[in-house]
Formats: sequence, structure tokens, C-alpha cells
Amino acid sequence: MINLIVGSQWGDEGKGKVVDFLGKTADVAVRFHGGNNAGHTVVIGYKKYPFHLIPSAILNRRVVGVIANGVIVDPQVLIEEIDLVEKDGISLKNKLIISDRCHLIMPYHKALDEAYENARGKNKLGTTRRGIGPTFADKVSYNGIRFYELVNWDSFVEKFEFQAKIKNKILKLFGVKPVDIKKALVVYKKIRTRLLPYIKDSYQVLKEAVAAKKNIVLEGAHGVMLDVDFSPYPFATGSNVISGAVNTGSGILENKIDNTWAVVKAYLSRVGAGPLPTELFGKTADEIRDRGHEYGTTTGRPRRIGWLDLEAVKFTTGLTGANKIVLTKLDILSGLKEVKVCVGYKYGGKDIPASSCGYLELAKLNPVYKSFPGWSEDISQVRRFEKLPKNCQNYIQFIEKFLKIPVALVSVGAEREANIIRK
Ligand code: IMP
Repeated sequence: MINLIVGSQWGDEGKGKVVDFLGKTADVAVRFHGGNNAGHTVVIGYKKYPFHLIPSAILNRRVVGVIANGVIVDPQVLIEEIDLVEKDGISLKNKLIISDRCHLIMPYHKALDEAYENARGKNKLGTTRRGIGPTFADKVSYNGIRFYELVNWDSFVEKFEFQAKIKNKILKLFGVKPVDIKKALVVYKKIRTRLLPYIKDSYQVLKEAVAAKKNIVLEGAHGVMLDVDFSPYPFATGSNVISGAVNTGSGILENKIDNTWAVVKAYLSRVGAGPLPTELFGKTADEIRDRGHEYGTTTGRPRRIGWLDLEAVKFTTGLTGANKIVLTKLDILSGLKEVKVCVGYKYGGKDIPASSCGYLELAKLNPVYKSFPGWSEDISQVRRFEKLPKNCQNYIQFIEKFLKIPVALVSVGAEREANIIRK
């Protein structure tokens, strides 16, 4: 069985928890795109694991975690994550695989991300400053350096010196401190020794796992509204987020996927800049932000908050071919007198589909709302749909009817068990 989990909004939908839930029966968990701009938090008891690179289902005993070729990797961050897990007595030897095709996020990529953002001034994109855009840019312009080179050390030294010298010239133009090439090479030598045991041809591992009909969980990162092609570009991340990214990012064929779980948060959040039609300000936004702990896992930034935008979700679930919805953080809406969802956009008095909107239209259009009476009960202990307040049931049923996709799982709290599983 192959399960794909994909974020259906602007990221931070609560994918980590769903991955962990499906991971219980998984043999292999795969990251296939993005980098450490993503952040998935898994809560076990009182312990929180904020993963950025390691597939979050790895905490389940029999799971092998694969960082497949589509992921760009900051090796220092990866080592910190390995240490965090191993400190708790979970050995990752033979449990974690990194593709030799993964590109490395280098110090100059991070410096360039920062320099571009600062130069944009008031037009900042609000990137995570993890070097994502510059690393993907180097990848497609044949200037990237992969784990393959890290294995073949002499090639690494040659390529790193060449790239770093050029990047240092660009950094100088930005007035930013250049990378110390000699010092960096000493660091990378150590990194190489540490990570060598994990580096493999992940395609072979995954091909065999698919052939053996293993349970595979594909951990999507970010959200489809950030997809480099289908977002309101340039308010995007550097990779494709739609299901086609599974094929390019891991080699697993898209038609082998059995289920695509679209993770939808019961409201909306966004980090970074860019238009957000249903954005909320003031008391309701503050209340939701605080109750939902809506501060970035990666950057700690307070997230922007909005009502659930079903027009956008209809677009993104179409792009991913989702056949199941996971509705997360529904408990956070408890106590609101009124809950709204956006069911369409009006632009210049006419209907406009989300797919036709660039950032200019998104900034100007008017969302069409449907309003629901709220519910006051705490629902975090509820485990059966019928036990939810009637208004809350109505909200869920409206979402599945609108999207024409069943809501298969409802998350009502941060704990591992706080779920309502529907048939
Ligand atoms: P970058 O991916 O760091 O280049 O940032 C580009 C945009 O994508 C920024 O608005 C980020 O805040 C956003 N972004 C990237 N990854 C995630 C994610 O996993 N969750 C939420 N926002 C993200």
C-alpha cells in the first residue's frame, strides 16, 4: 500500500501527525521534495520532535526513513536531527537512507537567500532563509553539488572551490561576508565521515520496496499553494508540491499511489508574504493563533491566520488527485460564535476560479463566504463523529460535500491519539 500525504493549503496543515498516524503500519517513510524549510512536529507523550529533514514516521519501530533524490539537504541540520533521535536511544543505523542524488544546501546558498531577501526591501517574499531557492536554482543550472560528490571527495573539493569562489564574488556585490573556503572544507570532511554510512542509491531501495508491496508513506512537505508552478508565483517555495513530485523526487511512479490524503487545516495559516484572500486580523485571528500555537516550526515567526479557503482547496485537491481528506486542528475553532468558509472568489464582480488567479488577482478579489454557527464544547476528547456537537458535524459534512472527497480523519488535538477515524 502506498499512501501519499500532501498539504492542501499554504503549509503547516498538521501533516506530521497524519504521517505518524499512517506510519504506524508503514515499512518505509519517504521525503521526496523540499528541504529543511519544512517542519513537521511529532508529539510522543511530553516529548516533541520538530523534524525538518528526517521523515517523521521514522519514530515507529519498523520504519525505514528515506530522504529521496528530490530533497535538498543541509547536512548540518540533518546531523542535528540524527543526534536528537539517537540521544533518545533510537539508532538510525540501517534505518535512515539518504539518496546520493540529493543536492546539498551550502553556506553560500543560505547567505544568498538572506542577501536577496534583504535586497528586496519592502517586497520581501518572507522565505525561511534556509537557502532553498538558491539551491534549487543551482540544481537546475548544473551548478549544484550532490551527496554523490561528498562520497567522491576529490570531486567535492574541486566543485566546492569552483562554486564558492564564484558565489563569494556575488556575495561581495551584496556587501555580505564571503564563505571561508578552507574552513568550510574542514567542516565538510567531518560531515562526510558522519553521513557516509547513510548515503545510498535510494531509487533501488524504493523500487524493491514497491515490488515487495511494502507499506510506503510518502511525506509531502509545504502545501500545494506554495508549489513552484501552481502557486501565485513568486510567493512560492522552490519545489513542486503536487503529486507528480513523487515521481521526480523519488522515482516511485505516481500511478502506484493507492491513497492521496489531502491534509486540510480547519482554518488557514501562512508564513511569509503574499496575498491571502481569507486573511483575518484582530481578535479572532489572535485567538486562533494563540490557541493553535501558530508560530513557525522552522522560523518561530507568528503565522498569518485566515478562514478555511475551500476555493483554494478545491484547486489543490484537484491537482493532487486526493481521495481522502484529513481535517486537522478542528478543536481550535471551539468557542467561536461563528465559523466561516470561503466557497468562491469574485473578481471585478465575476466568478474567478483559484487556478486563474495570480498574486495580483488574489490581492484584489472578494472571497464569497458561507457562515456556520460555532460550537462551544471542548472536542479534544471526542473520538467518534456522532459525539461531536451538531454544528461541528455540519461543518465537516459541508467540507466533504463541497470538495466531493470524504473526510476520512479528523484531528481534534495535538496528542497522537486525538483523532476521529471515519469509515
Ligand atoms: P522558502 O521555501 O524558504 O524559499 O520560502 C518561500 C515561501 O514558502 C515562504 O513564504 C515560506 O514561508 C514558505 N514555506 C516554505 N516551506 C514551508 C512550509 O513547510 N510551511 C509553511 N510555509 C513554507
